[in-house]
Amino acid sequence: MSKDNLFEQDSSRNDFSFNHRVAEVFDDMLARSVPCYRQVIDMSSQILTAFLRKKDHVIDLGCSTGSTLLELARYLEAQELRFTGIDNSRAMIKKAALKAEMFGKQDRVGFEEKDILDLDIKDVGAFLLNYTLQFVRPMDRQRLTANLYQSLRPGGVMIVSEKIIFHDSRINRSFIDFYLDFKKSQGYSEIEITRKREALENVLIPFSMDENIRMLRQAGFSTVEPFFQWFNFTSFLAVK
Ligand SMILES: C[S@@+](CC[C@H](N)C(=O)[O-])C[C@H]1O[C@@H](n2cnc3c(N)ncnc32)[C@H](O)[C@@H]1O
Repeated sequence: MSKDNLFEQDSSRNDFSFNHRVAEVFDDMLARSVPCYRQVIDMSSQILTAFLRKKDHVIDLGCSTGSTLLELARYLEAQELRFTGIDNSRAMIKKAALKAEMFGKQDRVGFEEKDILDLDIKDVGAFLLNYTLQFVRPMDRQRLTANLYQSLRPGGVMIVSEKIIFHDSRINRSFIDFYLDFKKSQGYSEIEITRKREALENVLIPFSMDENIRMLRQAGFSTVEPFFQWFNFTSFLAVK
């Protein structure tokens, strides 16, 4: 796995984008930037085991290099599920397809370069929307989640993981500080952390826990429950 040192040298002021340089180091970036990344995949696998039916279609929205889907395909072999990863970054999709081939999973796991705002699909068993909604323009999120609700079969589920903000400024500040400590513990320097934060400033826009829950309820989901939280990161299960 290539090491993420993108922000060691980079002093440019460009906004963050999921280009080929990011795709190249992305697996390392996720593992060192998203607290409990692996645990959330493990928990998602438990949820899917409980809620999915045999031969269900599982779609990962903003699948990046396909790590989550390839892990799930391994864990959930017995259910004969069909997996599709969707991402609008060509570099990510190319890498994901290569990994599927390397792991011999290309028959069960497919990848498509597409904008998740343009989906038109029915009878989906589960959507995964992990750390992706935060990159969708806030004004598009309600329409997107409502469309995803319509695309699920009755009883289908959506797993949503997001970075979140808090309306209490002391809690918000403290939880951001705890997150910065986590990144330092993963080997990122102060300057790398600052540069990346600046690059993400207008690109990653987190909602609060309440805003996310309200949006998912308005989209149609009758059940929305958080199943995981690490300070300013949380994962929800929404059931149709
Ligand atoms: C932080 S990464 C997601 C990580 C991945 N879900 C995981 O858990 O390993 C966000 C991804 O969403 C993709 N993305 C952002 N907006 C998108 C959109 N409108 N349509 C499709 N993909 C999008 C980006 O290209 C990027 O690969």
